[in-house]
This record gives sequence, C-alpha cells and structure tokens, in this order.
Amino acid sequence: MCGIIGYVGDRPALPILIEGLKRMEYRGYDSAGVALLEDGRMKVVKRAGKIRELELKLSGMSLSGTVGIGHTRWATHGEPNETNAHPHWDCGGEIAVIHNGIIENYVSLKEELVKKGHSLRTETDTEILAHLIEEFYEGDLEQAVRYALQEVEGTYGIAVLCRKEPDRILAARMGSPLIVGRGKGENFVASDAAAVIGHTRNVTYLDDGEMVTITRGEAIHKTLANERIPKKVEEIGFDIEQIEKGGYSHFMLKEIFEQPRTVADAMRGRLLEEEGIARLGGVRDYIQRLSQARKIFITACGTSWHAGLIGEYMLEEYARIPVEVEYASEFRYRNPVIRDNTFVIAISQSGETIDTLAAVREGKRKGATTLGICNVVGSTIARETDGGVYIHAGPEIGVASTKAFTAQVTALALLTMALARQAEMGSSTGRFIINALKSLPSQVEKVLRTDDQILEIASEFKDMKNFLYLGRGYNFPVALEGALKLKEISYIHAEGYPAAEMKHGPIALIDENMPVVFIATQDGTYDKVMSNIEEVRARRGRVIAIANEGDVEIRKKAEHVIYIPKTLNLLMPILAVIPLQLLAYHIAVLKELDVDQPRNLAKSVTVE
Ligand code: G6P
Repeated sequence: MCGIIGYVGDRPALPILIEGLKRMEYRGYDSAGVALLEDGRMKVVKRAGKIRELELKLSGMSLSGTVGIGHTRWATHGEPNETNAHPHWDCGGEIAVIHNGIIENYVSLKEELVKKGHSLRTETDTEILAHLIEEFYEGDLEQAVRYALQEVEGTYGIAVLCRKEPDRILAARMGSPLIVGRGKGENFVASDAAAVIGHTRNVTYLDDGEMVTITRGEAIHKTLANERIPKKVEEIGFDIEQIEKGGYSHFMLKEIFEQPRTVADAMRGRLLEEEGIARLGGVRDYIQRLSQARKIFITACGTSWHAGLIGEYMLEEYARIPVEVEYASEFRYRNPVIRDNTFVIAISQSGETIDTLAAVREGKRKGATTLGICNVVGSTIARETDGGVYIHAGPEIGVASTKAFTAQVTALALLTMALARQAEMGSSTGRFIINALKSLPSQVEKVLRTDDQILEIASEFKDMKNFLYLGRGYNFPVALEGALKLKEISYIHAEGYPAAEMKHGPIALIDENMPVVFIATQDGTYDKVMSNIEEVRARRGRVIAIANEGDVEIRKKAEHVIYIPKTLNLLMPILAVIPLQLLAYHIAVLKELDVDQPRNLAKSVTVE
C-alpha cells in the first residue's frame, strides 16, 4: 500500500526516486508524484496513473535537485486523480509530505486548520499533515513534525521535505513500514527495501513511534518523544536480480515458475532425516510448550489465510493440537478467548498487513505467545512476534501471491512435523514425510510442465463470467485459493466451496455456463468427490479436474483433466494449487489485463 522513497545525497535525486518508485509500484499504482528541492525552490510534480505517466510528464523538465521525495499511491481518501496524488504541501509551498496510512481524525483537524486560515486543496487525509507541520514550524522541522504528530490519530509512514532546511528529510512511522538505506555520502528513506537495494544493502528499521532525520552524512533515529535511539545497521537479504523479471513477461509468471526452488528453500537445512524431524531455529524455544498448547489461533488475510486453513488440517491431524483459523480483521475485534498456553500464529507474506499485525498485538495483550510465518525478513510482524519461521521465498512482486503460498504451506508442514514428533508421531512417520517433502521440488517442476495444456483450457474458458472451485479436506483451501487467484487478476467471479457443500446452494447456479474446477486427488474423499462431479455433469456443468497421475477413471467424467503427481495428502495443496495459479494467469493475460498490478488491489495492505 503506497510506496515511499526519499533521497539526500550528491547525485540528482529524480532518477533515484523514479527507479525506487518503479520497484515499489506493486504497493500502489493509481497515481504518483515527486517533490524536489531545486535552486532554493520546492518543485512538485504529480500525475494520475502509473509511474510511466509521471515519467512522461517529467520528461520535458530538467530537474537536477539532489534532495527529494517520491510516492506511489493506493487511494484511501479521495479519488486517484492528480490533485489527490502525493506529495501534498502547505499554504506557503514550503513543506511537502508523502504518506502511507490513514489519519483517522483528519476531519476535525481539517476544521481547525481551516479556522486558522489554512486553505486545503485536496480530498485527502494526508494534506492536513503538511498544514499541521506548517502550523508548528518555527525554524525547526524536526520539532514541527514531532508536534504535528502528537495531534494525529491513525497510522502513518511519512517523509517530509522543507524548503528552509534543504539538507534533510524527516520521516516518521506509526503502523506503516519505513526503513533507512545507509549509503556513503547519501541516505535514503523508503517503505520497502526493494526501493534502495540498487544503491545500498545497509538498512536500519524504524519501529512504531519513531522518527528519523536523514542528511547526506547521517541518519539520526529518535522516538517521537525526542529521545535518541541507537540502531543496528542490518543487511538486506536479497539481490537485485530477485526483484527483476528475468526474461519472464510478468512477475507473477516468474514467481509461479520459481516454485521448485522456493519450496526447496523453505525446507533447506531444516530437515533432520535420521530423526525424522524438522528443526526450526526461530521457534526452538517454544516447540515444547507449543506441542502442549491448549489452543493455537492461526490468523492471516487473503492467500495467507488459505495457507492457515491447510495448517489447521495438518496440525490437528498430526500434532493433535486444537487449531482455530481466523481472518485477522475479525480476530482483532471479536474478543477471542485466550487462556494459558495459547498461541497466536500470524501468517503474512509481507509481514506488514495491518490487520494481521493488529491481531498479533491483540493476542499479545491477552497473554498469548505469538509466532510469525513471514516472508519479508525484518518486517514488522517478524520483529514483533515472540518467535517465528521465515519461509525464504524471496521477494514476491506480483500482487497475486503464488510462491509465498506454497512456501507457507511447506513451512507449516515443517512446523507440524516438529510438533507431531514432540507428541505421538514416531520417527518412521517423520522420515516418511521428509521423503515426500524432498520429492516436492521435482514434482512441482513436473506440474509446471502442464503449462501448455492450461493455456489451451484458458483460451477455451476465458470468456466465462463465473467459475466454481470445489475440493475437500486439504483440497478445500486450495479451491478457495484457486477462486481467489481468478478473481484477483482476471476479474471473473469465482467461488471456492467444500465439494459436498455444493448441494446446499451453489448447485442452483450450475449450467453450461458455469465451469467447475474440481480438485479431485486420490485421498479419502475421492469417491465422494467423483459423485459430486457426476452431479455437476447431470446439470450440464463443465468440469475441469485436477487429478493424480494414473487416474484414468476421471477422464470419462471431466472435460479436461490436469494430472499432478501423487504425494501425501497434507502436501497435495502445494502441487494442486499450481495449475490453478497458471489458469488464472493465462486467462488474465488472454483478457489483456494487468496481471502484476490488478485493479484496486495492493500487495501489502497497511490500512484497515
Ligand atoms: C493483499 C494481497 C494478497 C495477500 C494479502 C495478505 O490482499 O493482495 O495477495 O494474500 O494481502 O498479505 P500478507 O502479506 O499478509 O500475506
């Protein structure tokens, strides 16, 4: 959600800002803008639409200032037009602000500012920040920002530029991520490590309630109460190639095809084959207690929530621990019962989703031990939880999550194994699961070879208006995830259901215009799912089936069968989801839609 970049150094800032914005465009892409200090003046250039629109507008201008800020927006307050695009500035045009988050009391602040004579030009909540800072400014930007933020309720990651203090950028954080990129004779502030990796690998992180002043030579971190905070410089853990398309037409396709490696990376160094156990350093101190947990809440949003559902099935089946999976946005507000030895496990690719973070904080407040299953190293959820497991999928840029999902499920399988071995599961079952895990990367590769067949199916079904996805057991969350992928990027209405539930409603929708995707692998419910397929066919529904290799029977029933290798039921989602990712991808491409940046969505949702 909204990308923020700021630069102070000796090089022209504009190309650095634009490059940073492009690397963060997946965070928000409805409008963009920059503010630069140039010959003692503040220049602000904004444009509705994508960064390339902004670039076009900038192409005729020669801006050589070496201090500037840039923003790519995901609109909350006010239409995504040029006026509402950031940066916003004060009455005097002296102070420019970019912001990620929501100022919740902006209406009352706005009224007060208007009474004091400020004239506001936009419909945004952000603009009031520029005027508030102006109100408090008496020659000390840092102090003015601090005072202004004391008036504010809500969430923010902000960067502020002031014409009168042209050597610095002020940034502050409450709820929306910010990092400082530490260069030589130059410094950066950004909402995302991807924006600075082209210039430096050294970063410091802001925590909530902190601010930073960056100049060419320094980055001074303080609390909002004006106390200096020492910060450890950390290293970004990925390379620039990992955030480039590497010859693929879209990030999403690249990320789908990376899965043989990312599934392997999620388990690398974590399998103890002899003992038939998984070793997870980040939760080592909690494993014993977790294996005897009274209850585990898994909380997450979107695709990560689907991974959580699979985790529930795994943990209950093998580790015999009661698990409840809950949307983070519900968990945080509904007063869940947390007694002693209750754990909250938050699953989040970005580690920044605000609802998931709030659920972690609520869990903590109620006395739960919190664990994170995150992808982004150093992200807020990873830092705020008591322990956790990194999934090591590398940067995921496509807005629709793919490789993170399969890596999350892999990590959950490892956690399950670690816990089950503490309890009743013997080493031979552990070894059995390890063998199945080790086969996964090559099996994923095999599934990816169905790509051509899936492209054909996509061409045949791309104009359909609705899809139903059905599965049972471990494949039910896969059905949900398949439907979500299709909705997100192809804008086709799709629903996922437990296959047997079809009879309780969705069956009324079935006719020749309702393709039904069955995940019909050979587990304990296979025969029942076959009956469900018959029920669909009897109503002229068109069936696409994901089935296990060797299943010839299903050919007689389904119009299309996509074969995937056999594995253990708990690992099947990792293989079964891939054809569904590819199906959504190809349909979206055939419909000429923007696969990597689908409308209205954002990769990391840092507002409620
Ligand atoms: C957004 C993204 C989804 C993602 C969800 C949760 O909605 O578009 O792809 O699944 O957030 O994100 P997280 O980073 O917490 O996994």
